[in-house]
Amino acid sequence: MKILVINGPNLNMLGIREPDIYGRTTYRDLCSLILEYALKKRVEVELYQSNHEGALVDKIQEAYGNTDGIVINPGAYTHTSVAILDALKAVAIPAVEVHISDVDAREEFRQISYVRQACFLTISGHGLNGYLEAINALRDRYES
Ligand code: DQA
Repeated sequence: MKILVINGPNLNMLGIREPDIYGRTTYRDLCSLILEYALKKRVEVELYQSNHEGALVDKIQEAYGNTDGIVINPGAYTHTSVAILDALKAVAIPAVEVHISDVDAREEFRQISYVRQACFLTISGHGLNGYLEAINALRDRYES
């Protein structure tokens, strides 16, 4: 099974950006955490991060036909991007939306998610562990 883990804008700044909200673990450490977990779970994982909406759309499209699941934290594009929603709908690959912080308990504008419509599960506020939970959920779904 192959899973693509996509992170959107500013998630490369993990560990530096607003540590009171997102913690002190870096993006690099997050990548190691995910890769180690995937190895243990016998899942192939590809990691991708971009600050650009079109690049995220391109990456989702490229996954068509060669990827069994998508974990996506679209960052701020969560709350604005119809293009990312449409890309996820277009490829119709099972997807899980992840947010490190509890977006529903923050500003009102963060409580709107466009991508949610194309995801069978949303994990919000579980910190970095949310990515691992998402991999688990995709694996369970794939195997059932
Ligand atoms: C985020 C929440 C978003 O509102 C924010 O713009 C992010 C990160 C999260 O992981 O909690 O960049 O997606």
